[in-house]
Amino acid sequence: MTGNGSSQDHVQKVFESVWGDSNTYDKADTISDVKRMKDWSDGKITSWIDNVINNNIKNSSPLSIVDVGCGLGLSFDCLMRCASPRESIAEIKYTGLDLIPLEKTKEYLTKRSKQHLENMYKINIETRRENMHSYGKRNEGRYDLAFAFGSLHHTPSVEEALLSTFVTLKSASRHNSEGGYYIGWIINTQRPLRQKTDEFFREYFNQFDSMDQCDKELEVISEIFKGIGEALGDKEIEIGNDSNLLQLKKGKYRLQSLLYDYFLKCYYKENESKKRQVHQIFDWFAPIYYHQTSREQLMSIFKRLDSETNGCDVIDCITKENGHFFYLRKK
Ligand SMILES: C[S@@+](CC[C@H](N)C(=O)[O-])C[C@H]1O[C@@H](n2cnc3c(N)ncnc32)[C@H](O)[C@@H]1O
Repeated sequence: MTGNGSSQDHVQKVFESVWGDSNTYDKADTISDVKRMKDWSDGKITSWIDNVINNNIKNSSPLSIVDVGCGLGLSFDCLMRCASPRESIAEIKYTGLDLIPLEKTKEYLTKRSKQHLENMYKINIETRRENMHSYGKRNEGRYDLAFAFGSLHHTPSVEEALLSTFVTLKSASRHNSEGGYYIGWIINTQRPLRQKTDEFFREYFNQFDSMDQCDKELEVISEIFKGIGEALGDKEIEIGNDSNLLQLKKGKYRLQSLLYDYFLKCYYKENESKKRQVHQIFDWFAPIYYHQTSREQLMSIFKRLDSETNGCDVIDCITKENGHFFYLRKK
């Protein structure tokens, strides 16, 4: 795989393989997905979304949302369910954007919104099979809210992907007292040993663009991760000193998190189907583009956003071991 074109094609095929198997997500443990989303944002996601909806109702309706790199729409469903219960129903025009065929996404989201969101929102779902870079440039000033959840780092450049999708937001004007909002999540740089073990698995799984081509290896790894996860359970360890070698601060750690963040992405979640665990291993290690961004790099990207667009307010940016959750507003 060389050159941008073929690497982005590879990413597309990997996610076609993951999201094409949509049955795996029908019975997804969605309550824990919502909880995870709230934990990642230190509980702030609820007020972020409530704020966007309330501002929009003051200004215009329906609320127009673009979900860049929407995949099957899991995060959209989850993000909207993080909002507070509503007395009146908000109207939403949703546009899901991805490189992969999106028939299943439309079907999945229609079903999900009937199950979970019907009492809060009236949602009109549209999907577009497009590259976020070229779509963004052709659709400036169109949306009230953009979600980019786990997608920007799968493109040739996080910085260019953020710049070209941020401009799809409305600017503040006489009609819109405030500009549009952007809520995103991208991965952080990994700790040094975790980078090495990730590289080992990536080197192998990058060869494949479909789970069928390496299903046996995926299953073995998933079995092992499950065994380790069950054995460790919620055990904790107190580490008395910092380690420069591991870039680790002294303190109390849950052993599973310590292993995951500092040594090996050993993924196991109780009550999650075996198939979904296999998907998560493939989704992490197979895509050729998987850029890691440090907080410092992200802040300099935000500065460029501010100077090259009509202006960008960074309202919040929460950095955890695994990623950055950010909330921006276009001026
Ligand atoms: C890890 S998945 C996240 C999907 C979804 N946002 C979620 O959180 O459930 C990343 C998605 O980004 C899409 N993607 C990657 N590069 C893209 C691009 N240049 N344009 C549009 N979508 C892209 C992939 O096809 C994939 O579905």
